[in-house]
Amino acid sequence: MGATLVRGKIFNPLGLTEWQYFEDGALRIDESGYIQEIGDYQHLKSLDGLEMLDYSGYLILPGLIDMHTHLPQLPIRGKVAGTLLEWLDRYAFPIERAFAEPAYAQRLSECFFKSLLANGTTTALVLSSVHEASTHLAFEAAAQCGMRVLMGKVMMDQHAPDFMLENTAASLEGSQRLASRWHCQNKGLIRYAFTPRFALTCSMVMLEGIAQLHRQFPDSYIHSHLAENKAEIAAVTALYQNRHSYTQIYEKSGCLGPRTLMAHGIYLSESELAILKETQTRIAHCPSSNFFLKSGVFPLDAVQHAQIAFGLGSDIGGGPDISMFRVMRSMVEIQLTQPAHVKPTEAIYYATLAGAEALSLESETGNLSPGKSADFIVLDTDTLTSLSPQGESIEEILSQLVSLGGEKQVMKTFVRGKAVFSNDRG
Ligand code: GUN
Ligand code: FE
Repeated sequence: MGATLVRGKIFNPLGLTEWQYFEDGALRIDESGYIQEIGDYQHLKSLDGLEMLDYSGYLILPGLIDMHTHLPQLPIRGKVAGTLLEWLDRYAFPIERAFAEPAYAQRLSECFFKSLLANGTTTALVLSSVHEASTHLAFEAAAQCGMRVLMGKVMMDQHAPDFMLENTAASLEGSQRLASRWHCQNKGLIRYAFTPRFALTCSMVMLEGIAQLHRQFPDSYIHSHLAENKAEIAAVTALYQNRHSYTQIYEKSGCLGPRTLMAHGIYLSESELAILKETQTRIAHCPSSNFFLKSGVFPLDAVQHAQIAFGLGSDIGGGPDISMFRVMRSMVEIQLTQPAHVKPTEAIYYATLAGAEALSLESETGNLSPGKSADFIVLDTDTLTSLSPQGESIEEILSQLVSLGGEKQVMKTFVRGKAVFSNDRG
């Protein structure tokens, strides 16, 4: 691959309320797939010897970041079964059991990552199942498709169905083997995330072992669930005779820190928010899942006020939608019932740069600024806006995209300068 000039309408989020927009813009990308320059096409076009990718009229955004999704749960998305604990027993655990079968795990993994790329997701933090061999196959599929994937096998050594319960030491050893094989592979696009499912299904010994393993693998992650549902919180805190809050249990084990990602965080006291802030733990907010499982409403104001970094997650299959555009729409809609008001440009920020910041990947991805990996998507927004008699502002285009957009709009997906998905029009 030579150096490339990509032409299109380019929207580049720089923060919650700051962005750059180039109506006839261009990105100069070097041979290694990193962005050298962003600007007006007229300024950049004079550079000779560049291969040209002309997406004039199409919208270019940074690749979307899904901070929390369960690969083996893809087949159960959209299946209603009460709230979290009932739904886990009825659908999530049985479908994860099926992931033990290698041929099925391989097929599903390929389909899962292809589907993410077709929806414009270029980075995902993924939970697999408890099965080591199938998780290995899932990593192979991730490497094959060229996506940026942070993943790990689920770990559970208590209060789970017999068919998924693990021996504590065996689970830690299996996770260590997978991390040794996969962490920082595929030119750094793949990272390992140690994945205690949640405090209900993980003993203190296991959590402490995970904190130790995490320290052995620099830049690895810890990925889990926190304070999603009231019955879940009651069950977790009862394990410790209500002497500790949910957040304190993780804190006590040493599992909190700047590379720890906790999904949900709906019901957090002031003191729990303070612990998350102090340890620099990050949150994956999963609005469509919170709605679908009737978990509750994310306390956006309180989390922002506590200065806790967060991004967005689809939480497939608790969340029904793999498209991060649907997740953004869900965030905007849910917060309409709250004092906070999320603008479409802000939702785009949460699904891109904020996710990268929460994952400590902001020097590598999350927007289209020079020095970053060229992770971007090309969108056909004409089908959303073409009936309008006048030209739209970028805010209006993004508003319609967040309200109405999805897989249909994604024409091409690039990771590190390489096309990893093209639809039949691209
Ligand atoms: N908490 C523990 N496991 C799960 C899961 O699979 N999905 C969701 N949404 N929450 C969980
Ligand atoms: Fe989840």
